[in-house]
Amino acid sequence: MAFTESDRLGKLPPYVFVQIDGLKKKAIAKGADIISFGIGDPDLPTARPIVAALARAAREPQNHQYPDGEGLAESREAICDYYARRFGVKLDPGREATTLIGSKEGIGHAPGAFINRGDTVAFPDPGYPVYQTGTIFNDGKEYRIHLNEANGYLPDLEKLPASVLSRIKILWVCYPHSPTAAVAPKSYLAKLVRLAKKHDFHICSDAAYVDIYFDGVKPPSILEVPGAKARCVEFYSCSKSFNMTGWRLAYAVGNRQMIAALRRYKNNLDSGQFNPVQIAGIEALRGAEKYIASNNRIYQRRRDLLLGGLRKLGWDVPTPEATFYVWMKTRHGMSSMEFFKALLAKCDIVTTPGFGLGSRSDGHIRLTLTVSEERIAEALARIEKAGL
Ligand SMILES: Cc1ncc(COP(=O)(O)O)c(C=O)c1O
Repeated sequence: MAFTESDRLGKLPPYVFVQIDGLKKKAIAKGADIISFGIGDPDLPTARPIVAALARAAREPQNHQYPDGEGLAESREAICDYYARRFGVKLDPGREATTLIGSKEGIGHAPGAFINRGDTVAFPDPGYPVYQTGTIFNDGKEYRIHLNEANGYLPDLEKLPASVLSRIKILWVCYPHSPTAAVAPKSYLAKLVRLAKKHDFHICSDAAYVDIYFDGVKPPSILEVPGAKARCVEFYSCSKSFNMTGWRLAYAVGNRQMIAALRRYKNNLDSGQFNPVQIAGIEALRGAEKYIASNNRIYQRRRDLLLGGLRKLGWDVPTPEATFYVWMKTRHGMSSMEFFKALLAKCDIVTTPGFGLGSRSDGHIRLTLTVSEERIAEALARIEKAGL
């Protein structure tokens, strides 16, 4: 019998970045000088002391063996210390923290540890696709929470039908939000925690962008809400905060039972992250304030340059207060794919069309601030010339 892939794989929606990549590669093959505002991968290097910490640790033979699944004690202490400094949240490194091989790994595996077949997992739409992937791979039922301009990307979940609220097992939230850049005030997060208690569900908070913010206004963690630890686990990633996407290092922190379940699930599937990477993460977390301030200064200059330039050209662009994303309506009533193709064909500029990020996001595109000021200026000149 010929090989067939699993039905679960067949249920996955097409991954828009593959399609975009194909179009981008075609353009490059024709000699185009592409400026990519597409995928959210920092162009800035990991800071030298973090790289040096990895190099030192890699030379130590005791670091070459299997790591502990839940992570080095010092690594868990470093993330808990950071939560205390940054959010005023007290966590027990013994039971309320675990390391991950990137937050994608944790987000993808969490439903395997938290849900049974047929349980409902609610997640934001538009949103990071892995909330849905994890649900599909664990035979959960998905419930999409639509975030849009009308609800300020902070939907009032109390208005969901009682029949939906009563069957939610896990609610995914992500603030600051990708792709819309929305920030949730603590009062909104507190409402979610109250709702979770009332309807007896648990919350998974994706904090991948919590440390990319502008004007020094720091977005909160859901764990700052009193009582949140009874219901919530949060995923904090080194990827965007410290320009470490390739390193694969993140942490889950919060509710003890959820952390224990995630550890147990992972211990049966993977053997944790390479110790030298965790040791480098300790350096990142100890120096977090300086690394993050330096990144955010750069992103803010880029944001202001890009937005100022686009507005001069008549584009209607909202100002993101956090994340390195700009989420905006397409121009001239084009669909997101038409606009994506126009920018690619006329300006050699790559963006992400909204249709790939949410089921009702076709009128939007996402631009990423992972492009140097020089290239942003060049992109603006091309857009002006093309009259888009
Ligand atoms: C919203 C969001 N969450 C989580 C991730 C996963 O990041 P990582 O696996 O690098 O920690 C990403 C990556 O792009 C993201 O955009």
